[in-house]
Amino acid sequence: MADLDDLREGADFGLGMAQVQTNFHVKGAENQSWGMKDRLSRIFNPETGKSVMLACDHGFIMGPTSGLERIDLSIVPLIKYADCLMCTRGILRSVIPANMNIPVCLRSDAGTSLLTALNDNVLMDIEDAIRLNVSAMAVMLAIGEAEHEAKTVANLYRAVDKASRYGIPVMGVTAVGKQMVRDARYFGLATRIAAENGANIVKTYYCEGFEKVAAACPVPVVIAGGKKLPEKEALELCYKAINDGAAGVDMGRNVFQSDAPAAMIQAVHAVVHQGLTSGQGFEMYRDLAKK
Ligand code: 5RP
Repeated sequence: MADLDDLREGADFGLGMAQVQTNFHVKGAENQSWGMKDRLSRIFNPETGKSVMLACDHGFIMGPTSGLERIDLSIVPLIKYADCLMCTRGILRSVIPANMNIPVCLRSDAGTSLLTALNDNVLMDIEDAIRLNVSAMAVMLAIGEAEHEAKTVANLYRAVDKASRYGIPVMGVTAVGKQMVRDARYFGLATRIAAENGANIVKTYYCEGFEKVAAACPVPVVIAGGKKLPEKEALELCYKAINDGAAGVDMGRNVFQSDAPAAMIQAVHAVVHQGLTSGQGFEMYRDLAKK
């Protein structure tokens, strides 16, 4: 057992050096099965290695919050600009047209208004995920939350056991407990725990020192957008995250709560895939928003 009393901070992150792998564009997936690679390739563009995931799963814990009152009206028109849609099975079946051909990262733990209270021990049936033809399953992890950490890690572990049998990737979603400091040390810990317990993708938050978080995570890291920011700041967040090693964004509120959601997601897409700076992205946003 590792000796926790002699925990030495990591210092050698090999910054600037890509993880050693030869012939697959998704980090850490080289030794996976064909089906797993195919699904990952639907999410992460083989040419850029990046992804813009559109997250609209908030209602499963927050109800019909701003921008998600009517997903058919607000989100469905944006799907054509996204590389992947992250939603719950209830929304997928009831609102998302099945002919849109969008890869789905399905929220696969249960949600309640008590936040972590149910996510930690309810995982959807793998057969339902297969019926829905999902490209990935997303499961929350509450690292550092005494009451929930072990149960959420067990949930992720179960998800990986079930999903990998069918070549379905699992995304570990790192939730931030109220008492947690949002720094590189914490996100480094949470992302690594997710990856080492089998997650194929990890979703986390951008922070100072993010390049170390991304470098030390052996699978792709995508960042959540978090609370709504002014568009320019949200694009700056995307730019910095990509520059510091993120493989994409899994963004919700900063897209669907924007004054011009379609313009915003296209600008995010250009920053993530075409390497636009945040300034160029913002110009693009303004131009598109005027149309
Ligand atoms: C909710 C989630 C959201 O999908 C995630 O937070 C991304 O959305 P946003 O960019 O609005 O933060 O995991 O549990």
